Amino acid sequence: AEKSAFPNVANTDYADAQLREAAQKALKQVQGELGKTYLPFIDGEYVSTSQTVNSVNPSNPEDVIGTLGLIDIELADLAIQAAKTAFGSWRRTPASERSAILRNAAEIMERRRNELVAWMLLEVGKPMRECDGEVSEAIDFCRYYADEMERLAGGHNYDLAGENNRYHYQPRGITLVISPWNFPFAIPTGMTVASLVAGNPTLLKPAEVSSVIAAKLAEILIEAGIPKGVFQFVPGKGSTVGAHMVKHRDINTIVFTGSQEVGCQIFRDAAILQPGQKHLKRVIAEMGGKNGLIIDESADLDQAVAGVVQSAFGYSGQKCSACSRAIAIESVYDAFVSRLVEAVRSLNVGDAAKPSTQVGPVIDAKAQQRIREYIAKGKEESSVAIEMPSPEPGYFVGPVVFADVKPDDTIAQEEIFGPVLAVIKVKDFDAALEVANGTNYALTGGLYSRTPSHIDRAMAEFEVGNLYINRGITGAIVSRQPFGGFKLSGVGSKAGGPDYVLQFLEPRTITENI
Ligand code: SER
Repeated sequence: AEKSAFPNVANTDYADAQLREAAQKALKQVQGELGKTYLPFIDGEYVSTSQTVNSVNPSNPEDVIGTLGLIDIELADLAIQAAKTAFGSWRRTPASERSAILRNAAEIMERRRNELVAWMLLEVGKPMRECDGEVSEAIDFCRYYADEMERLAGGHNYDLAGENNRYHYQPRGITLVISPWNFPFAIPTGMTVASLVAGNPTLLKPAEVSSVIAAKLAEILIEAGIPKGVFQFVPGKGSTVGAHMVKHRDINTIVFTGSQEVGCQIFRDAAILQPGQKHLKRVIAEMGGKNGLIIDESADLDQAVAGVVQSAFGYSGQKCSACSRAIAIESVYDAFVSRLVEAVRSLNVGDAAKPSTQVGPVIDAKAQQRIREYIAKGKEESSVAIEMPSPEPGYFVGPVVFADVKPDDTIAQEEIFGPVLAVIKVKDFDAALEVANGTNYALTGGLYSRTPSHIDRAMAEFEVGNLYINRGITGAIVSRQPFGGFKLSGVGSKAGGPDYVLQFLEPRTITENI
């Protein structure tokens, strides 16, 4: 096996009092900068818009984090035109120069780490430690994809005597990035810089509720030296302007992370050949999961409980990688559930800005409502093992564990995207694998076990993109755990992995008879 040589950047060690203080200072400073206006960035300029939207703090929705200018269809068309114009010189810019811009961006992110953490924490209600990990991931994406592009730029040489055969990669064309709010910095960074470094002009349309942090990413890319028209920041309504750009004949690649519903819609829309369109679009879509963790009779239950709690309730369960099903074998089921309940009881639920908070709010009122409906459904289908109170006034949902959930219950099949865990009892390991594989998704999964034959079988039969043995199932690290799923979890290569940048490239073979 190949050994990873990629030097991942370290997270902040908040055990160090000085670093903790610096982070708190940045948080205070950012709290003093709330409420500003952020504009789209099109063809090298910030442009004003007639429509705006406020982005609020989910821990305290009265706090407006910022006001975003939203583009309309006319501005979207202008941006796409500018991207077309910029393509000519960007595609000819050497890979090493494009990579250098990504490395500049990584450096700026390192310098602004505390501030970026603060914006993220306030805008999406994510506790500090997790925001910090996200900045690390974004930095890693920049450096890793920069290295990757330099590697790919070498192409391949298949020369024979009398015949030169050269294989090289060229950019595809204009990319539209449609990014989610749950990893509001790392995911848009990864999708955007992979496309850019491959030589494609790229438009970033962030999720509305996280557009201030996306505007910070735009600032960083601009400061890092991305030429005019090559990168454009295009916040706008997904259902109208987003859909318009997806259907636009000049878009080549669409990179999306978000719900299955929207992902499938994009797939459909992108498949329609528009008048004058001379290519088929490529869609890369990462669309969620219904991830299961198996706890067998040989599992270390202390480890299993800690891993399940972290995976299920980290960022309030709002990760596509989150554990939403714990599948426990009969003989350890009762012990597991009772320890799990005690661990959940001790979780601090509250404002993400409080250092003691482990579980913050959910993203907005709509999500809160949707999650509550699932909880009501769960109460009809199974029994509540513990339901933690929801603080006010933010969009809080206290963590809930349902016990004795049946594998086909709604809450065991549909992605809830909130702090709701279904615990399922199975009679043996065969049944555990069958239940684990019994959804439409295949993103992450895990097993706590000290039985080698079970571990081997999980490796062979547990159908997920990212399988974790004896650890939690979230928090994939760039180049160490390339991340992504299959089945209805999505299409495309793994983020932070060796095939990712290839998706933004078109290979060509040139043969010369000599
Ligand atoms: N990469 C994230 C994780 O592994 C999810 O997007 O948790």
